Amino acid sequence: MSTGANLAEDTGSSTSSEKRRFEPPADLAAEANVTAEAYDRAADDRLGFWAEQAERLTWAEPFTEVLDWTDAPFAKWYVGGRLNAAYNCVDRHVEAGRGDQVAFHFVGEPGDTRDITYADLKDEVSRAANALLDLGVRTGDMVAIYLPMIPEAVVSMLACARIGATHTVVFGGFSAEALASRIEDCRAKVVITADGGYRRGAPSALKPTVDDAIGKLGGNSPVDHVLTVRRTGEYVSFDDATDVWWHDVVDGASPEHSPEAFDAEHPLYVMYSSGTTGKPKGILHTTGGYLVGAAYTHHAVFDLKPGSAEEKGDVYWCTADIGWVTGHSYIVYGPLANGVTQVLYEGTPDSPHQGRWWEIVERYGVTLLYTAPTAIRTFMKWGREIPDRYDLSSLRLLGSVGEPINPEAYLWYRNVIGGDRCPVVDTWWQTETGQMMISPLPGVTVGKPGSAMRALPGVGVDVVDENGDPVPNGSSGYLVLTQPWPAMLRTLWGDKDRFVETYWARFEKQGYYFAGDGAKKDEDGDIWILGRVDDVMNVSGHRLSTSEIESALVSHPRVAEAAVVGATDETTGQAVVAYVILRAGAEDGASSGDALVQELRSHVAKGIGAIAKPRKITIVPELPKTRSGKIMRRLLRDVAENRAVGDTTTLSDPTIMALITDRGDPAA
Ligand code: WT7
Repeated sequence: MSTGANLAEDTGSSTSSEKRRFEPPADLAAEANVTAEAYDRAADDRLGFWAEQAERLTWAEPFTEVLDWTDAPFAKWYVGGRLNAAYNCVDRHVEAGRGDQVAFHFVGEPGDTRDITYADLKDEVSRAANALLDLGVRTGDMVAIYLPMIPEAVVSMLACARIGATHTVVFGGFSAEALASRIEDCRAKVVITADGGYRRGAPSALKPTVDDAIGKLGGNSPVDHVLTVRRTGEYVSFDDATDVWWHDVVDGASPEHSPEAFDAEHPLYVMYSSGTTGKPKGILHTTGGYLVGAAYTHHAVFDLKPGSAEEKGDVYWCTADIGWVTGHSYIVYGPLANGVTQVLYEGTPDSPHQGRWWEIVERYGVTLLYTAPTAIRTFMKWGREIPDRYDLSSLRLLGSVGEPINPEAYLWYRNVIGGDRCPVVDTWWQTETGQMMISPLPGVTVGKPGSAMRALPGVGVDVVDENGDPVPNGSSGYLVLTQPWPAMLRTLWGDKDRFVETYWARFEKQGYYFAGDGAKKDEDGDIWILGRVDDVMNVSGHRLSTSEIESALVSHPRVAEAAVVGATDETTGQAVVAYVILRAGAEDGASSGDALVQELRSHVAKGIGAIAKPRKITIVPELPKTRSGKIMRRLLRDVAENRAVGDTTTLSDPTIMALITDRGDPAA
């Protein structure tokens, strides 16, 4: 670990000067799925609490023990229990008479739509399961999925789960190189892909990338078959020995398939995390605990009220891509286990126009929306007049995930999108945790803009110093998870040592999971995530959080988005360097250029303290982001430190770096 961080010493600055507090809406609180009592229940008997939550699922064979932690940190949850994840997500809702309820309102980017009921989903998943069996896929085999956001992505995942094959979904934006390394690492027998998908109004090919990836692996390729969905109708090359069309083998397959029950610890999926260096980590999730963790948190945090349109059940929309863990836990497994109606959208927020999301919310009466702060800040940049054109009154709750949500974005989300009536739940978790860990409960928690608040019932969280001792309120430190939880990763695929080293070695004595994030407990003990500890700067011996300074910058009316890095400085150790995007129209405001930069520096100094004042601020047209929307500060650090810019292959748009370096002045 290369943090060199000394989080125990705090700057003494308050995390946010935003003091507004938001009570749960009275009607929501009165009917809330989960009340304050859940915290007490879980605190009294944590494993008993998780045993109760397991009753949300249908088990073919009951478990005999909730948790076996004797081989820590290798956990076994719901020992002896047997179940089928796909049965739990699909069949049992049909058996309960809910077959006609819509599972997905699919919206393609070109405007094509398709409503898929739970009964349709059952038939389709069964057909795909039969087709995979015909292609020779067996329980325990690996299947790679490289698809756009189309219903077949969900169907493929569930078809694997149904036959006990382990899936690894690779985000459609990844390169052939990245796909090849994942296929090779997990030895995938089959790859499910499409000719392409639609992005920004044009077909974007996928199958050629699969061909490339397999070509790269050459004689070492484990792939027997590539199963291709026809989506765009673009030409694809076809090898009769390995290639099969989805419409040939799935559409014609039988819709009858009896799901077999698997052990609770049967591998459900591997998700490769975009790790900062070296080879990606294959994070393994298993079946029973994962499904309990995803289903319970989805029920609790979204106050989920599933039901048909006639019953006025919730319409839930998670805007994540299925290629990331958010799509796994909060589009596929949690929501479907809970039997809710969802929206599934293929495209980008600005195709064909910047009101696309809000048009979808209005059209389908979305009640629960789950998205990322980076999207919210993009909408802020575009201006409120766009969402203001649509009727968003169906919304009742808004979720945020992926990065700290700055108070400015939280308030805009709450006010402009949520009409000041919807609570905002800021949910902290990771690919590794599988389920939300820190979040408000919408019927209980008094919300603070910018805080993820506290551990969910049954989850153990603390903020500790170097030695693993809890820090007092008002201080910051390392975020740790103090107790095993059902959806926890079980290991890194093929690399037990790295699993132990990465997550469990740092606080081995206490047996804590090290999350890699810094956090602060405020005066009330509520938790503010400060960002990855490698993004925490040390300026003149004072700890400063990149996100705290970014938040201060974004609270200036002319700033749309900001990224802050710590650049090496001879005198102060590190210095704060900021890159900011101005809001639309703001360029022609009163002050510009140097005057504006000075104004922003003072603004930060005012908000946090002189110590946080950026040494340098560069106004840029865009920020370098990964395809999942994370700002790549490493690249900005390269610019700030006058180095050649490092590897840009994971950027969503590699040309952005040229725009930024063009703006950069010679060293300050
Ligand atoms: C990292 C995990 C969780 C699914 C998407 C990202 C950051 C995540 C929050 C939040 C502040 C957050 C953390 C975490 N993060 N949610 N609500 N507030 N930071 O999954 O790619 O595994 O990234 O994202 O730094 O460690 P991931």
